[in-house]
Amino acid sequence: MRTQVAIIGAGPAGLMLGRLLDLAGVDNLILERKSADYVLGRIRAGVLEQGAVDLMDRAQVGQRLHAEGLVHDGTVLSFDGDDLRIDFTRLVGRQVTVYGQTEVTRDLMEARPDRTIYEAEDVDLHDFDGSPWVSWVKDGVTHRLDCDFIAGCDGYHGVSRASVPAAAIKTFERIYPFGWLGLLVDRPPVSQELIYARHQRGFALCSQRSLTRSRYYVQVGTDDKVEDWSDDRFWDELRRRLNEETAAAMQTGPSIEKSIAQLRSFVAEPLRFGRLFLAGDAAHIVPPTGAKGLNLAMSDVDMLAEALIGFYRDGTSTGLDGYSARALTRIWKAERFSWWMTGLLHDFPDDGDFGRRMQRAEFDYLAGSLAAQQSLAENYTGLPQ
Ligand code: APR
Ligand code: PHB
Repeated sequence: MRTQVAIIGAGPAGLMLGRLLDLAGVDNLILERKSADYVLGRIRAGVLEQGAVDLMDRAQVGQRLHAEGLVHDGTVLSFDGDDLRIDFTRLVGRQVTVYGQTEVTRDLMEARPDRTIYEAEDVDLHDFDGSPWVSWVKDGVTHRLDCDFIAGCDGYHGVSRASVPAAAIKTFERIYPFGWLGLLVDRPPVSQELIYARHQRGFALCSQRSLTRSRYYVQVGTDDKVEDWSDDRFWDELRRRLNEETAAAMQTGPSIEKSIAQLRSFVAEPLRFGRLFLAGDAAHIVPPTGAKGLNLAMSDVDMLAEALIGFYRDGTSTGLDGYSARALTRIWKAERFSWWMTGLLHDFPDDGDFGRRMQRAEFDYLAGSLAAQQSLAENYTGLPQ
């Protein structure tokens, strides 16, 4: 078998890359380890920057997003019960759209009824310094795919980054001393906009998926297990971290999903190894506080698609040569913002009273400075590519 671009992973990065290449007439095949249902069952973030919305439109899969997505003009930061609204529209003239990653994935899957091989086991990358090919096992049979390029869109635990010799790659990492316990519930959101709350007991986030489905999070310790958290315990803890009116307005109910994610910042450099390119979570992880994970995956593949399409259309490799540096410049800025939001809003057990006062001073500065609010809004709604 032969294709132009072999894509590893059918998450939002791999599916969007495949879609953009399809529209430009560049042949590609996606290899995904899991089943389509499994991929669609994963609950992930749900805030899209305008750039990601525009990309969905360019990929001609934006119809349902515009019908069902919720456009948000701002967000609320809350510090020990004091609320500060960040008005994106007034500050930077941009908005974000609440639309679950699951829905993005579904729209992209529907636009691509074939040429994705699900449940491909033992995917292996070969000769990406020369004539690349990929092998995998499906139903006990080993397959081989020759290609011009490989796009590693297989997430943090994927095989692509792991195939690169250690000497050729440098990684940067910070693991935070806490996680987020998330709960999904079929109840209307407590607030029209997202609330990011810093409380003495730790961080809490009120988010949403639709007008009838909410997503809430509380900061938990690294040793906490989902089994330790009954729904009742979760709701009690969440309410304690919010101001009184919000807590009183909260509509609780039985969870339909509950999971814990460890918070981490991670970047791999470079993103190109011969004819292998990394994009999305395969290349970087952000802590979710800035809502940047999905958006970064989208901007990576937008740049990678442009570079690959340029190669096939004009025969020039300038775009491919520049991809790594171009994408990393934007990635590091999103890493910085996510790290900063995380630092402002979480309880850091080792930082003591001084650390807390610094966080409060930062919040007070934000509350009194339009320039600081504008910086937050500019980053949250998405920096230009
Ligand atoms: N072979 C084939 N597929 C693989 C392999 C492998 N060895 N390892 C992982 N995969 C698949 C996973 O099953 C998954 O479907 O690669 C896909 C990677 O998808 P994501 O993890 O969703 O990563 P990405 O597409 O880069 O999207 C980033 O996901 O984690 C969130 O917050 C993150 O929103 C961001 C987005
Ligand atoms: C979510 O809805 O899951 C969500 C929203 C905003 C974030 C993180 C997660 O910053």
